[in-house]
Amino acid sequence: MTSTLIRGRLLSFNRAPEDIDDSAAYTYESDGGLLIEDGVIAAAGAYAAVKATAPQDVAEVDHRPHLIMPGFIDTHLHFPQMQVMASYAADLLEWLNTYTFPEECRFVEPAHAERIAVHFFDEMIRHGTTTATAYCSVHKTSADAFFAESLKRNMCMIAGKVMMDRNAPQGLLDTPEMSYDETRAVIDDWHGKGRNHVAITPRFAITSTPEQMEVAQSLVREFPHLHVQTHLSENRDEIAFTSELYPEAKDYTDVYARYGLLGPKSLFGHCIHLSEREADAMSETGSVAVFCPTSNLFLGSGLFPLRALTRRQKPVRVSIASDIGGGTSYSMLRTLDEAYKILQLQGERLNPFDSFHLMTRGNAEALSLADRLGTLEPGSDADLVVLDMAATPAMALRAEVVNSLADELFLLQTMGDDRAIVETYVAGKPCKSVLGMS
Ligand code: GUN
Ligand code: ZN
Repeated sequence: MTSTLIRGRLLSFNRAPEDIDDSAAYTYESDGGLLIEDGVIAAAGAYAAVKATAPQDVAEVDHRPHLIMPGFIDTHLHFPQMQVMASYAADLLEWLNTYTFPEECRFVEPAHAERIAVHFFDEMIRHGTTTATAYCSVHKTSADAFFAESLKRNMCMIAGKVMMDRNAPQGLLDTPEMSYDETRAVIDDWHGKGRNHVAITPRFAITSTPEQMEVAQSLVREFPHLHVQTHLSENRDEIAFTSELYPEAKDYTDVYARYGLLGPKSLFGHCIHLSEREADAMSETGSVAVFCPTSNLFLGSGLFPLRALTRRQKPVRVSIASDIGGGTSYSMLRTLDEAYKILQLQGERLNPFDSFHLMTRGNAEALSLADRLGTLEPGSDADLVVLDMAATPAMALRAEVVNSLADELFLLQTMGDDRAIVETYVAGKPCKSVLGMS
């Protein structure tokens, strides 16, 4: 058995904070210790107490004065869009048709998919993200490259081969039959291998025929424990086009409901313009609305109504995500900074404890993985991030006058990026400091 004792300041959430003074929502140790055994957190608490339980010869790593938290979780991004980021377009549909679809066509080539997968996982590690829920391209090769690389790095990843059979270039289309066969093959090849999870991934209603939606429904029936991911109500033109394609549906959400795609393992990217009826349907089924702040601003899609969704009589579960490549940063710190501003524009507050809860335990709960991810509780996988609030000269100057944990978190979120990530641990192994060495 390999054991490591990691020392530093520890922060882990017990539940969602009710307000900025809700200190019972989290556990903070100013001189903490984490005992890691075989990639899992075996003990967490005050350093002296944890050290007393550790084997005599335990290897120790001292990260003081830095803050150690569970690794960040990103609940929606697109692996084949790394080279689409920063593409100039008026809105979602122009951006998809002009840049995104042509770029995704390249993922039919295994060598390209494999090369981008290496970069993708490097960026995740560099930014402290240890789990992500990803869309691959329509090609099985892209899912193979993604999962092979995540297996190599022993990361907990959720991803799916996108299903799409219309309204896109020929090189990016499957058929209902192909989408069934290839999704099944991806499940057979990768689900449960290492820490990989496969998600059933119809891209969105515009790119799937009703026949393909039926296939998605059969897959959900056949594999009810798998995650489902798609896009919903991101942009007004997208909503209008969807209602033309599915005239019999009550609204956009009802398109997915008709094919049995709503449920507690279902993640719906964006959900900016939902009606009350749609929000009720999301709530009643335990479906998750995924907030993608940098993407929503970049594509001009709209302001996600976080509080209106979570504080309604029938609350909707929410998570937070980068939505690379509509999103503009891999960093969950940058993502939460933009989320804060989106709430400011709606006269709402997002306190720093809310933010750090969301990107750790909150997102783990949204993925139904909080028993293993998102906290520092014993039994959790030792996926960790080590944060430095004085990572740049400007941050260090600001940090001189920080005198509370809330201030520190807010500084990290407002001014931090990958430079604030001192180390990223995956299943107990340091990965950021060794990037590029193998
Ligand atoms: N809707 C369908 N596909 C996409 C995508 O790749 N990005 C975003 N932001 N929205 C989508
Ligand atoms: Zn997306």
